[in-house]
Order: sequence, then structure tokens, then C-alpha cells
Amino acid sequence: MARRIRIFDTTLRDGEQSPGCSMNLHDKLAVAEQLEKLGVDIIEAGFAISSPGDFQAVQAIARTVKNCTVASLARSLEKDIDCAWNAVKDAANPRIHLFLATSPIHMEYKLRKTPDEVYEQAVKMVKYARNLCGDIEFSCEDASRSDPAFLYRILEGVIAAGASTVNIPDTVGYAVPDEFSQMIKGIKNNVPNIDKAVISVHCHNDLGLAVANSLAAAMAGADQIECTLNGIGERAGNAALEEIVMNMYTRQEFYQMTTGINTNQIYPASRRLIQATGVKCQPNKAVVGENAFAHESGIHQHGVLANRATYEVMTPESVGVPHNKMVLGKHSGRHAFEERLFYLGYHVDEEKLNALFEEFKVLADKKKTVSDKDIEALVTGTRGIIPETYTLDRFVINSGSSITSTSAVRLISKDGIALEKVAIGDGPIDASFNAIDKIVRMDTTLEDFTLSTVDGGTDAQGEAYVRISRDGRSYNGMGVSTDIVEAGVKAYISAINAMIYETTNHNS
Ligand code: KIV
Ligand code: ZN
Repeated sequence: MARRIRIFDTTLRDGEQSPGCSMNLHDKLAVAEQLEKLGVDIIEAGFAISSPGDFQAVQAIARTVKNCTVASLARSLEKDIDCAWNAVKDAANPRIHLFLATSPIHMEYKLRKTPDEVYEQAVKMVKYARNLCGDIEFSCEDASRSDPAFLYRILEGVIAAGASTVNIPDTVGYAVPDEFSQMIKGIKNNVPNIDKAVISVHCHNDLGLAVANSLAAAMAGADQIECTLNGIGERAGNAALEEIVMNMYTRQEFYQMTTGINTNQIYPASRRLIQATGVKCQPNKAVVGENAFAHESGIHQHGVLANRATYEVMTPESVGVPHNKMVLGKHSGRHAFEERLFYLGYHVDEEKLNALFEEFKVLADKKKTVSDKDIEALVTGTRGIIPETYTLDRFVINSGSSITSTSAVRLISKDGIALEKVAIGDGPIDASFNAIDKIVRMDTTLEDFTLSTVDGGTDAQGEAYVRISRDGRSYNGMGVSTDIVEAGVKAYISAINAMIYETTNHNS
């Protein structure tokens, strides 16, 4: 009988903490909804005390998601625990996730506490949290570099104090599978009350072993795995959810484990995250990378045509990669477009469908065929969720190899006022961004700008991602157009709109 492993997703906390992966409230909610569809057991929605924006996101997710436990991270401090509880308390199933470091190096240099002091604090804070919330998880930060005897002692203490899940993180990605598996077995054999708690693991990927360590730990008896979509996370990232799940699914006979994941929602979830953060996966990324199901060599193609199992251990359909059979173009009707949207996992209301269909028609006039990726780009390009303080009316650029680029941009403010400025710059994008800066007059820093094509071909759409920052917070924007400068300009305006919306409405 297969053992059921709980999937604890920390894309919106550990994942979001990684550079370039910050998301606004609406994107976080959209990712959380996708995680619910995916069937994860627990969503770690954020670290409530870390910023008002994080608190708001955790609270909004707690109030929206119904079928998963919603957790907030908290240091082992009363103020953190109170804040985490306030953020999650409206959830159908709330959880507070406390952590405290247990390794000698962290206790001495970071906490400046003795092991006894750490033990006392952990037990006291778990008791405190347990008085607020019925579901407490406690993490021994840097567990893999901790003294096993101390680990057993503190785990016994926090379980007695009310922790129902104890997490064993490989915080710095230092463990190797055999050793980590021994550590889990050691905990099972040496913590007297371990049967009162679920053992969880949380592995980082610094040496590329996060997934292997997580699976080894599950084989040794861990019942919960913490992971992120696309493996995003601090430094080299966290264990990738899709790899863990598809290992168990594809090698059932070996692992004898199942999860509650709807595997056909893996690819849509991965795409949704990429759209929210602008951070793409490497092409050869297992399960969700562009090339994960591509067969280039003739021998492989021949094999796959004869029988896909010759070179594929899982099917693209099993993870929800859409097969690109239906090509849409300018003669495609609204019904075909709607069906394709549905197939790609987008359920939009009538009003949004009409708006998208209009955009689709405009695009189909410019491009011979409209691919699934074009459609995805359309959906996320027409976000319609963040109110647009500024919209692009028009722009004119003058650029070439031997002249200074100039751009005249006209934006329409939300009150319907046309605002136009001209600026010079180092190329048409820089000139256009400078013109927009003159209009909006906000002191922002451009942190990142990436431009890629949605699909191949010279008529391909350009997809631009922009990240700007102000007062230590980052805001993302995305724009799509067959004109690459327009894509960049739209992305810049959408980042500015996100910043205005977040700072004025959410005080974050
Ligand atoms: O990596 C880590 O140790 C963590 C803990 C806070 C769970 O993210
Ligand atoms: Zn972590």
C-alpha cells in the first residue's frame, strides 16, 4: 500500500524570497489558486511579519484558499507568532510555522545563544503558538549541520509543547542523500514522542541534491516534503515540487508513495509562476523545461514515433503540457479561442473573454498563426486585475546606429488626461523609459529588463519583463507586443501601475 506524502509548497515564501522572484498581491493570489488546483496539502503563503505586503498577501490567501492548509512563517518570537496568527486565522485550516536555528554555527554566531537557551525558547514559543492555533510546525533551522543529540532533545521538547509537524531543513544544501536518510532514521529511533508528529523535510539545492535528499528522507520515513514550483528559492533554490512528485508518480513501484497532486496541473502551475515573476526555467529543467519533452536527434525521433516510451519516461500530457495540435489564426472563431483558453487552464469571465478575443483578433492579423504561448502571453498581458493608473496611448521613436535615440511617449492617466513627454536615451527602450519617468515623476530604479520572443519566427511577439524598485521594494511588470519596443514600454508601465497600486492601496 502506497504511503501518502504531504506536499508543503513554499513557493510564495522561500521561493518568493529569492532575488527576482518577488510578486505582487494579485500574482501571489493567482499562484495560490493554482497551487490549490494542483492539490498541494499546505501552502506557505509568506512570512507575515516581514512586511505589511507579506502580511496582506498571507491574509488574502488564507481567506481565499479553501482546500489547503495555509501557513505563515514566524521566528520563535511572540511578536512574530501574533502577526502570523493574525494573518492566517481566517483560513479554513490555519498553521503557524515557527523556526529557530539549532546548529552550533547558527546558535553561536547568529543567535548568540547557548543550546539550553535555544531549547527553552523553542519550547516556550511552541507553547505560546499552540495556545493560538491548533496546527503548529516547528523547524530546526540548519538541522543537517546540527548535533543529532541536541536535535533529538529539542524535537522531543517541541512535540511535547504542541508541535504537530517537525521540520528538518537542510538549510544550506549541505546534506547528501545517504547521510540525510540516516538523520531521519536517527530521529525516528531516538525521539521518544516522534509518533505524535509528522516529520517534514525542507532541502535547499546548493549542491544540486535537494530533490535527491528529499526523496531519500521520504524513503527513510519523512511524511511531508517542502518544495517550490520550478525549484525557486534562496540561492540555488529549494527542492522542485514537480521533480519530487513526478519521481513518485513515475517510479511508483520503487517509492511506494503517492501525493495528492493533480499532475496534469503541474505545467500550468509552472507557467503561471513564470508569468508572475518573469523568471524562466532553464530549457533542460526536468519535467517543466522547454526541452523536457523535445527530441532532437534523428534516432530519438524515430524511436519516439515508433513508441514514445523508447525515450520518454512520462508523457507530456501527464504533467499538463498542452499538445500543440490546434493552430489558431485570424479565421478562428470565438468558440475555438475559448476552448483553447480552457484547455490551457484559463477560466475567464465573459467580460475578460471578450477583451481577450479582441486582442487575439488584432494579434492574428499581425501573425500568421497564434500559438499556445501567444495565448498565454495575451492572458497575462491583459492582466486587468491591477487598476491601470496609466495606459499607453502612443509612442514614436527615432533611433538608428548614428543618432541619439529619442522617444515621445503619450500616456493616458486614469482620469483621462493625456500626458506626453519626449526624452533621449541610450537606445529606443532607454529613451522611452526616460520619457515615461518624466511623466510619472516617481523615483524608481530599474533593476531588471528582459526581452524574449514568445515563439520563433520574425513575426514572433516580444515578451518583456521589467522589475523596478523603490524604497527597498520591487515591482514586476510584463508586456507583450509584436513590436519589441512597445512590449518594453508596456512592461515598464505595468510595473509602475503595480507600484502605485501596491503603495497606495496596501501601504506596503
Ligand atoms: O531553509 C530553511 O531552513 C528555512 C526554514 C525557515 C524552514 O527556510
Ligand atoms: Zn528554506
